[in-house]
Amino acid sequence: MLTVKNFKKKYHQHEVLKGIDMTIEKGDVVALLGPSGSGKTTFLRGLAFLTPGDSGNIIFDDQKIDIQSATANDIKQLRQKMGFVFQNFNLFANKTALQNVEEGLVIGHKIPKAEAKQIAQEALKKVGLLEFSDHFPSQLSGGQAQRVGIARAAALNPEIILLDEPTSALDPELVADVLQVIKQLADEGKTMIVVTHEMAFARDVADKVVFMDRGLVVEQNEPAEFFDHPKSPRLKEFLSRISAASVANNSFEYEKSSVN
Ligand SMILES: Nc1ncnc2c1ncn2[C@@H]1O[C@H](COP(=O)(O)OP(=O)(O)OP(=O)(O)O)[C@@H](O)[C@H]1O
Ligand SMILES: [Mg+2]
Repeated sequence: MLTVKNFKKKYHQHEVLKGIDMTIEKGDVVALLGPSGSGKTTFLRGLAFLTPGDSGNIIFDDQKIDIQSATANDIKQLRQKMGFVFQNFNLFANKTALQNVEEGLVIGHKIPKAEAKQIAQEALKKVGLLEFSDHFPSQLSGGQAQRVGIARAAALNPEIILLDEPTSALDPELVADVLQVIKQLADEGKTMIVVTHEMAFARDVADKVVFMDRGLVVEQNEPAEFFDHPKSPRLKEFLSRISAASVANNSFEYEKSSVN
């Protein structure tokens, strides 16, 4: 469904992405891991042209984009297929939860207001927040705000949802509900790329785990093989820093979540 070839990005002289290749099949959940500064956010934002890359190709179904010569129309068409969930939610502070979800439907997808409201309510219901429809972001917990962020992305019914550390700004007790909502989307067959440090979640939910380091994909595999038999020294070192105990303790914690 989505193929990325030789994606490169420099900031001044600093080559942050040195040629990323990635293939994502429809319905796949890809967990993207890597140390801080390895380029995960730059890559994800580059895919959606939020911060455009310098060169490379993005092939999305029958749409082929050469990053260097992408037109505004190419980018618009590509973005229509993508939803984005940010680490810090990026909700409009002056809009209610419902209005935040409605916005993209009405403005971006030109859906009539009444219909947009229905879709938005359904999306909020799915993340367990229908009764919070009229709350402003300041009246929501971080976990609730992020679930609105996910509802906003999912309501547009994009081909793929890109999530950049959706739980890392949250207090630990709020993480489980958000992971549960993402798992629910995965169970529905939604294609996603999730940048995450939640190893138990990656192991359980992802179809493929990709490890990036210093601007390159170093290793990728299905989760059991990835975590149990890492091959490259850099991945071994990365995983060894996450103690077996903490993985065991956190395992499946999000399944205790209250969202259904
Ligand atoms: N706007 C920018 N200007 C200059 N350098 C940048 C900019 N954005 C990111 N970088 C640099 O690019 C590199 C990759 O950053 P990026 O945010 O993609 O890493 P990351 O893997 O998402 O890290 P983290 O896990 O901390 O979120 C870093 O060295 C960072 O300092
Ligand atoms: Mg990042």
